[in-house]
Amino acid sequence: MCGIVAYVGHREAYPVILKGLKRLEYRGYDSAGIALNDSKLSVYKKQGKVARLEESLVGVELKATIGIGHTRWATHGEPSDRNAHPHLSASGRLAMIHNGIIENYASLKLELEKKGYAFKSDTDTEVLLNFIDDILIRNQCSLEEAVRIALKRVVGAYVIVLMDEEDPSTLIAARKGSPLVIGVGENEHFLASDASPIIEYTKQVVYVNDYELAIIKGNELILKNLGNEIVTPFVQQLDLELAAIEKGGYDHFMLKEIFEQPKTIFDCLRGRLDIANQDIIMSGVQHYMEELKTANRIIIIACGTSWHAGLVAEYIIEELCRIPVEVEYASEFRYRNPIVNKGDVLFAISQSGETADTLVAIERAKEQGAIIFGILNVVGSSIARISHAGAYTHAGPEIGVASTKAFTAQLVVLAMIALKIAKEKKSISNARFMHLMHELNAVPEKVKEILASTEKIKAVASKHAAASSFLFLGRGYNFPIALEGALKLKEISYIHAEGYPAAEMKHGPIALVDENLPVLFVATKDAYHEKVVSNMQEINARKGKLIAVVTAGDHSVLSLTGDLIEVPEADEVIAPILNVVPLQLLSYYIGVERGLDVDRPRNLAKSVTVE
Ligand code: M6R
Repeated sequence: MCGIVAYVGHREAYPVILKGLKRLEYRGYDSAGIALNDSKLSVYKKQGKVARLEESLVGVELKATIGIGHTRWATHGEPSDRNAHPHLSASGRLAMIHNGIIENYASLKLELEKKGYAFKSDTDTEVLLNFIDDILIRNQCSLEEAVRIALKRVVGAYVIVLMDEEDPSTLIAARKGSPLVIGVGENEHFLASDASPIIEYTKQVVYVNDYELAIIKGNELILKNLGNEIVTPFVQQLDLELAAIEKGGYDHFMLKEIFEQPKTIFDCLRGRLDIANQDIIMSGVQHYMEELKTANRIIIIACGTSWHAGLVAEYIIEELCRIPVEVEYASEFRYRNPIVNKGDVLFAISQSGETADTLVAIERAKEQGAIIFGILNVVGSSIARISHAGAYTHAGPEIGVASTKAFTAQLVVLAMIALKIAKEKKSISNARFMHLMHELNAVPEKVKEILASTEKIKAVASKHAAASSFLFLGRGYNFPIALEGALKLKEISYIHAEGYPAAEMKHGPIALVDENLPVLFVATKDAYHEKVVSNMQEINARKGKLIAVVTAGDHSVLSLTGDLIEVPEADEVIAPILNVVPLQLLSYYIGVERGLDVDRPRNLAKSVTVE
């Protein structure tokens, strides 16, 4: 969602901010803008891509060494030049960018209107800005003080960054609920929603916490809490290389990330899967082993693709650990007065670690005493900081909006956690434990084999790219993979797709089947295989266009008519990690064939930082 970038130091701010905005494009946005402070505030903003803003500024002299930039994902007010950030305050003295939602903006707006304020945009941001402006002017105080007073009245989530025309060497920033990273350079500072705009300049960063306010000059960074007490900044070294956020020769980030999976899965297993000592090394899990082993229930909360990883985990944990598992959409959990009992452990799964619904759901569960275990990709993210323990997925930065490598890494981590608990609980035999360890170890090579059949999958994609609807079916461990396949296709190709448990087909969806409907089965060999093959026969009988992901060498599917995509044989517990890969490729190539921007699908944001 909205991306923010700001710079103060000795360089010209415009090129730094522009490049930063380009790096944040993956978050999803509909307009972009920049404000510079050369002892006079200049604001430039445009609906549409950053490139459009850049074109409009060709030939304009932009020499300031302090500035703020923003990519906006519309919440309050349609995408337009007028609603784009930065906004200028009514007095003309302040410029501000904002990521988040000011929930009580309507009452603040009314208050300001009574004082004679008029608004140029439909945004909640302009309301907060003028609220600050009003305090600044009436109280004759510093901007820092005005921001502090204003934020005590604000309900909602925000990162804000402000510039004051009368103080052209200072940025003021504050955070609650949305991410803010400050890069610390030599007499310069960089601010951004994530580290990607910063790493080419410095690897020293400070993650600002909720309710903190930062006063930033080129050579000075002061952090304070809202009570005006100084907080010592915790400077961390980023473990991230520039290459990780560049396309590296691939046409799209999504394709690069699909092809990275043998490596990301290997990285995820590395140092954890200790086959020689028959052990899984995960310190976070070990630390809470007693609570995990004796848990009455594991509640998994997540959104989107991460929720699908949670569903796979439900099958694995119940099977291997014999602990009841409930999987919840974070957005539902947070509002429905959930029952969390002593002895419940909550797993929060999130690639970004910033998803607003997941963050709030965790807070609800924490209030009720649950232990929070985060399965996260982004190190240092907001969820990482509020979890009691957890495990990182080590998939590296995921830039494509459609989650691919983060999903397979989540599945690997969840399988390892389940195996570790099962071993400690002795709910599986040592032979089964070792078999699954070897199966996990073999996953990177097997993913490579699947990627070697990309051309075949591309041909299948081409054949079905004009479809208007798709059905994805699977059973058991493969049911969540059917859901994930449908989600991927919707996101990337804008084709309507539904995922269903294969056995539910006869209870309704079969009515959709005709000679135009592609029906994709995730049908690798497992406990339900024969039944799923019968379902596929039923599709053949009704002339639906059958596509199936099947186990290599499976003779039981040879009589079927349709497109069969083979994957290497694997234990059913591990198979979902492999089976999703052809579905990722299928969606990718269908999206490309339809001429769509697969890395930045319309309306979507990479991390959903507002509810
Ligand atoms: O960062 P998170 O894992 O918390 O994000 C959750 C969803 O927003 C995300 O998985 C979304 O569904 C992806 N676009 C799926 O490809």
